[in-house]
Amino acid sequence: MSVKTIAILPGDGIGPEVMAEATKVLKIIQGKYNLRFEYKYAQVGGAAWDKYRCHLPEDTITICRKSDAILFGSVGGRVSEQASEKWSGVEVNSLLGLRKTFNLYANLRPAKLYPALTSASPLRADIAKKGFDILVVRELTGGIYFGEPKGRIGYGENEKAFDTMVYAKHEIRRIAHIAFKAARTRKKKVTSIDKANVLTTMVFWREVIEEVAKEYPDISYEPMYVDNAAQQLVICPSHFDVMLCGNMFGDILSDQAAAITGSLGMLPSASLADGRFGMYEPGGGSAPDIAGQGISNPIAQIMSAAMMLRYSFDMNEAFKDIARAIESTLDEGYRTQDIRQPDCKLIGTKKMGSLIAEKILSS
Ligand code: IPM
Ligand code: MG
Repeated sequence: MSVKTIAILPGDGIGPEVMAEATKVLKIIQGKYNLRFEYKYAQVGGAAWDKYRCHLPEDTITICRKSDAILFGSVGGRVSEQASEKWSGVEVNSLLGLRKTFNLYANLRPAKLYPALTSASPLRADIAKKGFDILVVRELTGGIYFGEPKGRIGYGENEKAFDTMVYAKHEIRRIAHIAFKAARTRKKKVTSIDKANVLTTMVFWREVIEEVAKEYPDISYEPMYVDNAAQQLVICPSHFDVMLCGNMFGDILSDQAAAITGSLGMLPSASLADGRFGMYEPGGGSAPDIAGQGISNPIAQIMSAAMMLRYSFDMNEAFKDIARAIESTLDEGYRTQDIRQPDCKLIGTKKMGSLIAEKILSS
């Protein structure tokens, strides 16, 4: 029987409770596909701070290194406590640290409008009705997030701050290949987002992407300025299939794409390195205000586990089992409070996890 080792990093807030539902679903998958998942729990974020005085301890990194994949919950504390030592910089330290340490350069963020949740979208009804299924492919370890030099110089009125936007050819090329390959499994269209009318880095970005596009004659390719893309996302989201972005634009547009689905608690993500290693995390935050009440939505965490099965373990059928189970649970009207609708069947975190697990068993 094959064994897959998974580093489980539940983190803060609702992280642990939604993670419990993801492992509940994984247990069913184990049985169905006759393999074994071995979990190695490790601490990250505020949860790590109390013991280690650091948001990403060496112990955690070691555990991740020895695993086949990382399943991440969420990190962060209450807004009112953000300035404290425990919480300040927690997201940057945990996430950027993991991304850089494990070279997780390819970030996949699907933003799909579930038919059952169309009315939850903030888009105008006639636009939402057309539906959309977008995959944002975001470069995650380069660009202005990590470019050097960065810093502050001078004092008082003369003080200045600066960051550097820089991309090497190989960084652009490798993320482009990820996007074009992903498009092959979808609607065969890549829109590359840039600001080539202003930024030198983005002129270069467009040149390199255009070169890579030639290797994929079966995929339709278009470049689009980021400001225009922001507009098109709300006017006509069904225009997009794969949106290929650098780190910064991908950060912004993936939030926008998520927001128009109307259900932030539903969206998973994958951050992949070369080969099969990856980290999988839900898109929503740690929601400390509702933590511990059993009302959070576990779907994004469960979908993140599904993405892990697909990308790290090559278990596409198991991925589809989970995706189908989620969709039919929603179709039957079950909702957690964040996605509640008139006449829905309102349920809690555990019940949502159990219903999804049962659906997989009976499928
Ligand atoms: C994200 C987040 C992070 C980012 C922050 C928390 C560092 O916004 O994953 O999109 O900017 O990448
Ligand atoms: Mg973001």
